[in-house]
Amino acid sequence: LDNGLGLTPPMGWNSWNHFNCNISESLIKQTADALVSTGLAKLGYTYVNLDDCWGLKHRDSQGNLVPDPAKFPSGMAALADYVHNLGLKFGLYSSSGHATCSGTMPGSLGHEQHDANSFASWGVDYLKYDNCFNDNISPIIRYEAMSKALNSTGRPIFFNICEWGDMRPALWGPNVGNSWRTTDDITDEWDRMICIAHLNEFYTAYAKPGGWNDPDMLEVGNGGMSYDEYVVHFSLWAISKAPLLIGCDVTSITNETMSIVGNYEVIDVNQDSLGVQAQMVRDFGEQEVWAGPLSRNRAVVLLVNRKLMTVTISALWSDIGIPDNVTCRVRDIWQHQDLNTTYQGMLTMHLTGHSCMMFVLTPIS
Ligand code: GLA
Repeated sequence: LDNGLGLTPPMGWNSWNHFNCNISESLIKQTADALVSTGLAKLGYTYVNLDDCWGLKHRDSQGNLVPDPAKFPSGMAALADYVHNLGLKFGLYSSSGHATCSGTMPGSLGHEQHDANSFASWGVDYLKYDNCFNDNISPIIRYEAMSKALNSTGRPIFFNICEWGDMRPALWGPNVGNSWRTTDDITDEWDRMICIAHLNEFYTAYAKPGGWNDPDMLEVGNGGMSYDEYVVHFSLWAISKAPLLIGCDVTSITNETMSIVGNYEVIDVNQDSLGVQAQMVRDFGEQEVWAGPLSRNRAVVLLVNRKLMTVTISALWSDIGIPDNVTCRVRDIWQHQDLNTTYQGMLTMHLTGHSCMMFVLTPIS
């Protein structure tokens, strides 16, 4: 969407994957504080996004959505101020139906302009807009209505189309929103994470600055996968130019989780100015090669071992789109290390079970 936002994939935090409906003003403030104190904000994680369950079941007599006073006693404008004063951005959630997906609060269908005005007046910078209770009205109509309403407030608001990929939002989303979900909800499981990465890959061609495919939010740090598996998860999201929305409890984030979501070279790949989503260029049978172009004539290559045993995977230049006779300098992105030798034609590596390796290739001749 040409609203000046999302020129690189958005980065931040969202409440849903870890906290579900258990959200409150103090949690959001502590999370915003933690994003700053851990250094995550400096690395680019600036959106602090509330998900479902922030409001009362019914609108007030003027038709306004009402933040639940038991959870958010100071209201949304005050909370947005708090977040803004830390140099961060504030995100909120609604649904393009009669109710949100939890069923605990109203959706914005038929109230698009009214709610967009509320969001803008509260200082909202990002809207995640869900798909539940939608009366089978075409999503294009429902999402366009909110997109226009947000635009007419005059406040730049990043617009996330949370349509789950049902009606192929990659095909119409680029004119409507800044990102669009390509799949159903993620869970904190290896198989589901891998499956979602592949479903999302189908729409590679549609991602570009201003509009990104969204394979859902990160589960890194929530406990359902091993360290290596979370490294694969974060790597796949990074090269896929996916929104990097941390979904764990950052108020108690571990060093291990920080070492994954805080890897600045992996983040750099995600935030690369070219904005081209990587693709799976070869599958040797649960041994995958993903690759995509980066700015300054570089390429990113991700080798993924989906098997439980150690395997050897080769990335062929011909699969990556580099002429066979070109020699490349190769940098291991997770290790922050240039490899000792240069490579021509292909690159071969050993990978332990459920792990990956990520490289940036720079042609030198
Ligand atoms: C849907 C969305 C999730 C989350 C929940 C909240 O399932 O896809 O990301 O927002 O609703 O109820």
